[in-house]
Amino acid sequence: MKIYDDLKSRKKAISVIGLGYVGLPLALEFAKYFDVIGFDINADRVEMMKNGIDPSKELKSSAFDNKTINYTSNHEDLKRAHFHVVAVPTPVDEHCVPDLKPVLSASKTVGQQLKKGDYVIFESTVYPGCTEEDCVPILEKESGLKFGKDFKVGYSPERINPGDKEHTVEKILKIVSGSDNESSQEIAKVYLEAIKAGVYEASSIKVAEAAKVIENTQRDINIALMNELSMIFDKLNIDTLEVLEAAGTKWNFLKFSPGLVGGHCIGVDPYYLVYKARQIGMEPQIISSGRRINDGMTAFVAKKLVQKLIKKGKNPQNSKVLVMGITFKENVADIRNSKVADLVRELMQYSLNVHLVDPYASPNEVAHEYNLTLMDEPAGPYDAVILAVNHKAYVSLDEKYFTDIMSDSPILFDLKGVMDRDEVKQLDYWRL
Ligand SMILES: NC(=O)c1ccc[n+]([C@@H]2O[C@H](COP(=O)([O-])OP(=O)(O)OC[C@H]3O[C@@H](n4cnc5c(N)ncnc54)[C@H](O)[C@@H]3O)[C@@H](O)[C@H]2O)c1
Repeated sequence: MKIYDDLKSRKKAISVIGLGYVGLPLALEFAKYFDVIGFDINADRVEMMKNGIDPSKELKSSAFDNKTINYTSNHEDLKRAHFHVVAVPTPVDEHCVPDLKPVLSASKTVGQQLKKGDYVIFESTVYPGCTEEDCVPILEKESGLKFGKDFKVGYSPERINPGDKEHTVEKILKIVSGSDNESSQEIAKVYLEAIKAGVYEASSIKVAEAAKVIENTQRDINIALMNELSMIFDKLNIDTLEVLEAAGTKWNFLKFSPGLVGGHCIGVDPYYLVYKARQIGMEPQIISSGRRINDGMTAFVAKKLVQKLIKKGKNPQNSKVLVMGITFKENVADIRNSKVADLVRELMQYSLNVHLVDPYASPNEVAHEYNLTLMDEPAGPYDAVILAVNHKAYVSLDEKYFTDIMSDSPILFDLKGVMDRDEVKQLDYWRL
């Protein structure tokens, strides 16, 4: 059941299902070499893309130049496609349990349009087994076709990094896998056409699924270790970043730093592995501890700030604090699963008056998602400032900027360690 030649000669089309951070750049890259249909359930987003606008605000309008994609939210249009790539979200629910609704619903959509000889490739981050055990039965049920005989599936995880303009989709080696040897090779050929960095053929779909989920789990655990060290060193009055700098002079010391872990990947993906482990009767120790530590950092920071204010004789109820940055990481507009929002709420629990600014985030989205108000400009004087995200615009700020917007005994919490502590001697400076 070969497909590459028909795709290459444009006898058959590729569909990309879910045009977000992952799906849209991939669809645009594929469009350089293949006939592409871009499908998304959100008609407003589809309309924006038709007009050369990336709703995720990652791509410039020039990224759409000379690319012909049939953007649609009409299921019927998928009939024309034979190689379907699914890149829909895989979040967790309020109990940190995988929410497979989008990926199962996308499987249903594709299943209803599936034809003999078609391929379905999943790109969404999942736990090992999800593609074959959860999605394939839906594809079979909706299509009435037989997996393996009538259609094939594959899994190829995405590794892009939001806000990273250097490691773009075509420049990152891509893991590919298929349900058998032939499909793995066909899928590899299709991706190889667009991904100039090359492909790595994993031995099975489960191996590819597991590889993706552990990349982010490993990162989460390493950051958790840094956060735990930071809490220990705080009690010992040692500067964590200075310790890490010294230890980093050893050739094999891994370079991670403490911080809030938000967003929809690193703070979410480990829960997929935890869920699968529990299904097979195992209780993961390190992975769950890492998640607990990282999720507990906002409470640690809030408590630390309140203690500092009280030590200075300030009543938290009368204190005004500015939080700078709410996006989940630097230089992006994405506020999903922002731990800074948790921090703001935590501070409010202590009755602090909190102001919030961010040059990248949209005030409407912040209001809608978190019921918080994003101010245009700081309106001091403040008793403390929390530099929560290392946006480009914040990295160049100096001591004077902070003393100007703060009252007496100014406190600066520099969560990302942006400032040189020797250059902010007039401030009560603290960092993780
Ligand atoms: N964002 C990243 O940097 C990144 C990196 C690697 C992997 N991933 C993984 O890739 C997957 C997609 O993430 P994302 O960040 O692109 O998500 P996203 O939220 O940016 O975009 C998802 C898109 O899918 C659409 N959608 C939702 N349900 C749909 C359905 N049933 N049918 C069709 N369209 C649907 C949404 O309208 C949206 O446009 C997730 O599994 C994520 O974990 C993301």
